[in-house]
Amino acid sequence: MSVSQSGSTTYTGAQEGANAARGLWSSRLAFILAATGSAVGLGNIWKFPYITGEHGGGAFVLVYLLCIAVVGIPIMMGEVLIGRRGGRSPVNSIRLIAERDKLNPMWRMIGAVGVLAGFLILSFYSVIGGWAASYVGTAASGQLVGQSADAIGAIFSGLLSDPLTLLMWHTVFMALVMVVVARGVRSGLERAVSILMPGLFVLLLMVVGYAMTTGEFGRAAAFLFQPDFSKLTTSGVLVALGHAFFTLSLGMAVMMAYGSYLPKKVSIAKTSITVSIIDTGVALLAGLAIFPIVFANGLEPGAGPGLIFQTLPLAFGQMPMGSLFGTLFFVLLIFAAWTSGISLLEPIVEWLEEQKGMNRTVSTLGAGLVCWALGIASILSLNLWSDFTPLGAFAMFEGKTIFDLLDFFTANILLPLGGLMVAVFVGWVMSSQAVKNELSLSEPMFRLWYTTVRYFTPVAVAAVFIYNLL
Ligand code: TRP
Repeated sequence: MSVSQSGSTTYTGAQEGANAARGLWSSRLAFILAATGSAVGLGNIWKFPYITGEHGGGAFVLVYLLCIAVVGIPIMMGEVLIGRRGGRSPVNSIRLIAERDKLNPMWRMIGAVGVLAGFLILSFYSVIGGWAASYVGTAASGQLVGQSADAIGAIFSGLLSDPLTLLMWHTVFMALVMVVVARGVRSGLERAVSILMPGLFVLLLMVVGYAMTTGEFGRAAAFLFQPDFSKLTTSGVLVALGHAFFTLSLGMAVMMAYGSYLPKKVSIAKTSITVSIIDTGVALLAGLAIFPIVFANGLEPGAGPGLIFQTLPLAFGQMPMGSLFGTLFFVLLIFAAWTSGISLLEPIVEWLEEQKGMNRTVSTLGAGLVCWALGIASILSLNLWSDFTPLGAFAMFEGKTIFDLLDFFTANILLPLGGLMVAVFVGWVMSSQAVKNELSLSEPMFRLWYTTVRYFTPVAVAAVFIYNLL
């Protein structure tokens, strides 16, 4: 700890000490790459289109965009600033700030909620990552060429009805994530992200281009961007809010962990906004790629989690060199999911290392195996247990399988709860001077952000919760 010239207490000493061992991001760009690698994933390409389809399109998209702007971005800034101020892993950063400012140490619970959420999310995330992996082979072998929507649908249901194949790909995906986390080296992967993410973007653009020629592009654009509020439900608002957290990797201290490596001179606001814009752009592009295909082929927008696997393969089956582009697309999708998966496992492993004194290999193996085992429940709920709806007696969980419940509970309850705690912590608990120094925004911008996290964000999250639970 050191005292800065202005007389306010800063933690640069602690941060430098910690960073000597942990290394700072080489630049703002490195942070943006890592944060974008975490944020852009299956949430953008798999989940956003299918929940948009399920919740009626435009009005849902509008609420989602609002949630990104007034809840997501302010909370991302909050997470990054806690991380940078503490300069440690999330649990220790919060503990450090709490000790210095004589706050209740129970705020560490934010980190604990994150660890739990990470476990639960990764367990089903890896299963979907496995779907993407299996489609690499499907596309590469030319099976998609010239297929009808029915045949493409049959390939997908064939995959879902086969627990062993699903298990194999889930295992492959978890192993990929575990290898990187166990070795603790992400430099190579970060370099890869800087090439592969733009690649994914270009391929999505290609599919959008193809979709524009199918004649249903206008209908898709209207579906996505013309709000019809009669289709918006309270549960739709909850899902949109939850997805804002999920897609930006918020609410489980990932951005806090990454923020601890951010150099002091970098603007937290600018970087958070950049990451959020890239993330939102990819999601909207995915929507524009998928919905023209949905409408052109008379498919159902509300088809559910299989939506992209029933639409994109159709496009790849029809466009020139589609097998090549399809293979490439699914490879890039795996990369996007991989970097996100790593960011889900990393905080758990760091927590085990710090709190339980386990070494990295052991903690990765332990945490990874538990996630993997839990993933089996998600796999079975796609086939053998597809009628098993453990909480079906409650109206809001009606018809939800274990897989649906894990998704619902994490994205729509745990993450917003974690985010709410972050908003309250930076808005009401931390010293406002500390927060202000960390953000170094102009006075009006700081006021805008501070008012948002103090009042608007907590009230919005609480209101959505209360509406849905009552
Ligand atoms: N944001 C990722 C996606 O959209 C998923 C993810 C990675 C995540 N890390 C996270 C979600 C941390 C919540 C919290 O696919």
